[in-house]
Amino acid sequence: MTSPGPDIRIAVDSAGLQRRIDELALISEAPAPVVTRVLFSEADLRGREYVRRAAREAALTLREDAVGNLFARWEGSEPGLAAVGSGSHTDAIPNAGKYDGVVGVLGAFEALAALKRAGFRPTRSLEVVMFTAEEPTRFGLGCLGSRLMAGSISVEKARGLKDREGRTLEELRCAAGCKGPLESVTLPPGYYHAFVELHIEQGPLLEAQKVPIGIVEHIAGPSSYRATLRGEGGHAGAVLMPVRHDALLAGAEIALAVERAAKGSGSPDTVGTVGVFRIEPGAVNSVPFGAYLEIDLRDARLGTRERALAEIRRTAEEACARRGVSMEFEEINADPPAAGDPRTVAIAQEVCAELGLRSLRMVSRAYHDSLFMARVSPTTMIFIPCRNGWSHRPEEYASPEHIASGVEVLAHTMARLAV
Ligand code: GLV
Ligand code: MN
Ligand code: MN
Repeated sequence: MTSPGPDIRIAVDSAGLQRRIDELALISEAPAPVVTRVLFSEADLRGREYVRRAAREAALTLREDAVGNLFARWEGSEPGLAAVGSGSHTDAIPNAGKYDGVVGVLGAFEALAALKRAGFRPTRSLEVVMFTAEEPTRFGLGCLGSRLMAGSISVEKARGLKDREGRTLEELRCAAGCKGPLESVTLPPGYYHAFVELHIEQGPLLEAQKVPIGIVEHIAGPSSYRATLRGEGGHAGAVLMPVRHDALLAGAEIALAVERAAKGSGSPDTVGTVGVFRIEPGAVNSVPFGAYLEIDLRDARLGTRERALAEIRRTAEEACARRGVSMEFEEINADPPAAGDPRTVAIAQEVCAELGLRSLRMVSRAYHDSLFMARVSPTTMIFIPCRNGWSHRPEEYASPEHIASGVEVLAHTMARLAV
């Protein structure tokens, strides 16, 4: 065993946790089974109130920072020591399900409650975080709360973020009742001794291999780009083919280049997606004069992601030049991948072995707040299977048994880290 742990018997209140997951799911901008809770929407604000109540019921001490990150703490016997953290998010993209993020917040409350019931007394404090806006829906930038906590975005840039209606983060957070300057969100160095996030896998591997627990060794680094193309429009009947400057066709070449570059990067972890492709004017009898693409490119290794990006840009420039279409290519965001902390990973794996649960070391292909916590703390994630790997859709489902196993592993892992 890497670290001696207390001999505790955890009994997870699976029914109580499921009831809370179901109750939170009903706080949504859209009728059930759809869950939509966009940052600082009315549903998000009510969701936050639900989380506060759950923290108080669990007898945890609440604190909120200037961007609305919520911290619920169980004070250890040596409060001066760095805390052991867990947590995730409760915001949800449009048309989402009820488990993404929520399992990591309400599940962490249950982990602490189960440890309390078991008579465990932590030396280090245990803290659950509900991060603000893991999802990029409102400002086009994911992990806003954890990004600010890790000091990975400048306060000037954060303050200036605008949503589609032109409302700034500054305006919205003040309207939501967040107090204090954004500068105060950054965590002091060494704030966490370790951080462990519980999350549904959002992929099919655990289910397919019938393994109940995944332990995250790497989190793929996400990046996104926008390409704005300008060609020349005209009558679909009258403008002959040799003289066309069709922006859609240049965009189509870029979309295919994204696929080709991701497939041919040499790494199975490179994934490229064109998730937004709009054209102007969008009429059947008009040559498209404008096209707008948003590209999502991710990899567990920066080198292969950068090579894929260079290949995409080279092809895009060549296609646009050949077609007489102008292109503006901009980075929206690019985060490096994160590595899990080997000791924390080993502890979680030992816990699984001792509980008789099979586990698999994994790459997280989705990003999470742990991507940023890993920059300021030894970090890992505990994954549980979800049906068909579905996520970001109302059919998202994780069984109460798998959730309970995840909570049990989380509780033991936090306990070992806290002594
Ligand atoms: C987060 O939801 C992601 O897009 O990975
Ligand atoms: Mn998500
Ligand atoms: Mn999530």
